[in-house]
Amino acid sequence: ASALHPGIAPISYLLGTWRGQGEGGFPTINSFSYIEELHFSHNSSKPVIAYSQKTWKLHSGEPMHSESGYWRPRPDGTIEVVIAQSTGLVEVLKGDYDAEEKVIRLQSELVGNAPKVEKITRVFQLIGGDLSYVVQMATNATSLQPHLKASLKKL
Ligand code: HEM
Repeated sequence: ASALHPGIAPISYLLGTWRGQGEGGFPTINSFSYIEELHFSHNSSKPVIAYSQKTWKLHSGEPMHSESGYWRPRPDGTIEVVIAQSTGLVEVLKGDYDAEEKVIRLQSELVGNAPKVEKITRVFQLIGGDLSYVVQMATNATSLQPHLKASLKKL
């Protein structure tokens, strides 16, 4: 692996593999539980972190959703994230990071190839060494509300 680019230092706590359990729901679906693994890595001469995610059904271990993308922090405290989901949905998210509080807040600027989905927000926070997040979405039928939340431990 190459040396850390100084531009990713404010969010370098993400680097590594995280695993834990999540809970999903939405007004229009049955709630569900899942196991999730996130992997953040840096191997670039640019200030970019590569991201990949996999999920499994909690009880059966059957694979569920997966996604991958790139996180691009900027020196001014803003951040841009692109994600491609296994369902075909693509996201461009913009937001900001707080290096002290270790919070990253993202909201979609573009959601493509998913006609029902109008907006996605993702908030990540490091709390007591665990990485927690909440994903919310708005669809053509439902206002912005939580779809996913999880708390993950670093392996
Ligand atoms: C359902 C979007 C991530 C599991 C849905 C629906 C949408 C959606 C639009 C249909 C809701 C409705 O019919 O009203 C998204 C988006 C995601 C995401 C935008 C990421 C930003 C995930 C992940 C999992 C998951 C990570 C699994 C861990 C499910 C399940 C359903 C569902 C089980 C209900 C059954 C089904 O439609 O398959 N999601 N999803 N989703 N999602 Fe997600």
